[in-house]
Amino acid sequence: MSSDQVQYTHGYKLPALAGLNRRTAESHASWLLPRLKPGDRVLDAGPGPGTITLGLARAVSPGKVTGVEIGQPYVDLATETARNDNVENVEFLQGDALDLDFDDETFDVVFSFAVLEHIPEPIDALREWYRVLKPGGLIAVGSSAVSWHAHPLDAPLGPPKMNFYYRVWETNGGHPDMAADQPQLVRRAGFQDIEIGGFFQHSDPQQQASTWPERFRDPDFIKQAVDAGFASAEEIEEVAQEVEAWGKDPDAWYMLPWFWALGRKPG
Ligand SMILES: C[S@@+](CC[C@H](N)C(=O)[O-])C[C@H]1O[C@@H](n2cnc3c(N)ncnc32)[C@H](O)[C@@H]1O
Repeated sequence: MSSDQVQYTHGYKLPALAGLNRRTAESHASWLLPRLKPGDRVLDAGPGPGTITLGLARAVSPGKVTGVEIGQPYVDLATETARNDNVENVEFLQGDALDLDFDDETFDVVFSFAVLEHIPEPIDALREWYRVLKPGGLIAVGSSAVSWHAHPLDAPLGPPKMNFYYRVWETNGGHPDMAADQPQLVRRAGFQDIEIGGFFQHSDPQQQASTWPERFRDPDFIKQAVDAGFASAEEIEEVAQEVEAWGKDPDAWYMLPWFWALGRKPG
């Protein structure tokens, strides 16, 4: 699969990046960090701009972390960030995390955050990651679920206002409520000793309000949503304006729930 065949709904433009490049291993993978050991060989499947990946690399040094990312813009950005931050035990490769160019039993840990929700058959990804893990190796996946995003009940973000966005995401093969299925998928892929947990990320309403409208106003997105009959262009613009107004409300707040699952490959 090439990057032009993958329909990554959030895209690679600035609005999507603004939400990703604030993530760190400490903020979004603190549940994994205590389990990493110096010397571990780690795969980050779908690292995006790589800000979490760099923290994983620091944790396993002198071990090595490889990020396999389908979007070339993020591979370039992550590589540049690693160079600027002087993190040398990390590499970012362009590729499909469902069809890895690695031998069986290569990695001690496979980590993937906020990626399964963009993959049409997440079980296929988990089986591929099982293949490249060493016996006894650790799978560590994290996902969100839009149905459980938390905000004041009249906020225009989340369902039902943003249903048109979630329907486009599903049309692109994604799963906006992925986290609900994550534990059973990890088990079905063959992993054992499964542990689950979660946390809320407080997200700045002004930042949400400055990024979602731009995504809604992307002409390609509008065309897809309108052609599929999920909303009219006018309805999408109305939600964009409501979100902008909401971002200025001093009482606005927004929390993203994240759920993680850890499991071991038997052996
Ligand atoms: C929401 S971003 C998460 C990025 C990063 N893990 C983080 O949490 O900051 C999802 C990423 O998965 C990548 N992706 C989606 N499908 C992929 C695939 N089949 N192989 C590799 N990367 C993929 C996207 O290009 C995007 O960078």
